[in-house]
Amino acid sequence: MLKVIELFAGIGAQREALKEAGIEHKIIGISEIDKYAVQAYELLHGPTKNFGDIKQIDSLPLVDMWTYSFPCTDISLAGRMHGFEKGSETHSSLLWEVERLLAVSRQNSTLPKYLIMENVKNLISKRFMDGFNIWLEYLENLGYTNYYKVLNAKDYGIPQNRERVFMISIKDNTKQYTFPTKETLNVKLADFLESNVDEKYYLSEKLIKNFSSMENRNGFVRGERFRVHDENSEYAYTITTRPGSRATDNFILIPEATKKGYAIAYPGDGIYTNRTKSKRGVVQKSMIPTLKTSVHDLGVVLEEDEHIRIRRLTPRECLRLMGWKDERIDLIIERGISNTQLYKMAGNSIVICVMENILLNLNKKNTR
Ligand SMILES: C[S@@+](CC[C@H](N)C(=O)[O-])C[C@H]1O[C@@H](n2cnc3c(N)ncnc32)[C@H](O)[C@@H]1O
Repeated sequence: MLKVIELFAGIGAQREALKEAGIEHKIIGISEIDKYAVQAYELLHGPTKNFGDIKQIDSLPLVDMWTYSFPCTDISLAGRMHGFEKGSETHSSLLWEVERLLAVSRQNSTLPKYLIMENVKNLISKRFMDGFNIWLEYLENLGYTNYYKVLNAKDYGIPQNRERVFMISIKDNTKQYTFPTKETLNVKLADFLESNVDEKYYLSEKLIKNFSSMENRNGFVRGERFRVHDENSEYAYTITTRPGSRATDNFILIPEATKKGYAIAYPGDGIYTNRTKSKRGVVQKSMIPTLKTSVHDLGVVLEEDEHIRIRRLTPRECLRLMGWKDERIDLIIERGISNTQLYKMAGNSIVICVMENILLNLNKKNTR
């Protein structure tokens, strides 16, 4: 039986992955301060001991594993980028509370065998690598061997382009760890979408015009198959084989920071809808770009009644795209938790199947 403490527990993606992996486990406690996350956690997993604010924890009981998916707000490119330096008081510097608790555990001879970290890829970028190296060295001095790697959710069965760095630290140098190998993605974003979604999720024509390219291409600004042809137009409908310029295509052009200056989105694609001119990869083929704690800058392109439409994702879709199953989502949706909170929970979560695969590899003979 693997005894686990989930630090920065959120809604317990770690625990969900242990369940999905079929690993016999017991959650001894969590540390989480967000009341909505705690509410959702208990709806999903039942009453659980919450040690509360990590800063207020003096010591933790002896267990086999700590998970610490610490706040990324000051590391993420989408966030404040204030870093996670010790003593900086940033959200991300809560990492050093884990250091403090490990130091206490060393004194009490209660160091866990395994530590699992998850954070944004930027943590191991040039900008933050020095800080991360300090962390690696600290863990090594405690006797841990660290294995870290960037994994993308799209390589583990979920149509989301989400890169996250995972680190497994093992306090037994006779055991080694290998990260799970990539799988071919055979599901599409469309498979994760709800049907009959409330009109409030749809973007207005005005908003679409604001971010999509209105440049005239072959007589089309947006390729709508059955758009009425303006007789007076100087352009004829030319059928070519170039995608996005065929008169029969339904597509939308999204400006982006590439030489070409735009990308073509088709129904079923996920797109960015904010400041796209300064971004690359604004269109993700049959996939959603990385889900963050709100969905205001993401859209999904749809074809409805032979017209292109764009809408935001629903909270259920976001949770599905984080690998949560519908029967689990049902437990937290319509429980008085606002959409804003549900989006935040989804964006903070870990894609379950990625974590599940990581845990399964840890459970293999060479590592246990
Ligand atoms: C990146 S999220 C981790 C979410 C988690 N992986 C999940 O499965 O939902 C970081 C979490 O740390 C929590 N947090 C922030 N400050 C904290 C503190 N002082 N003590 C404990 N948890 C804290 C946040 O509320 C947030 O839920």
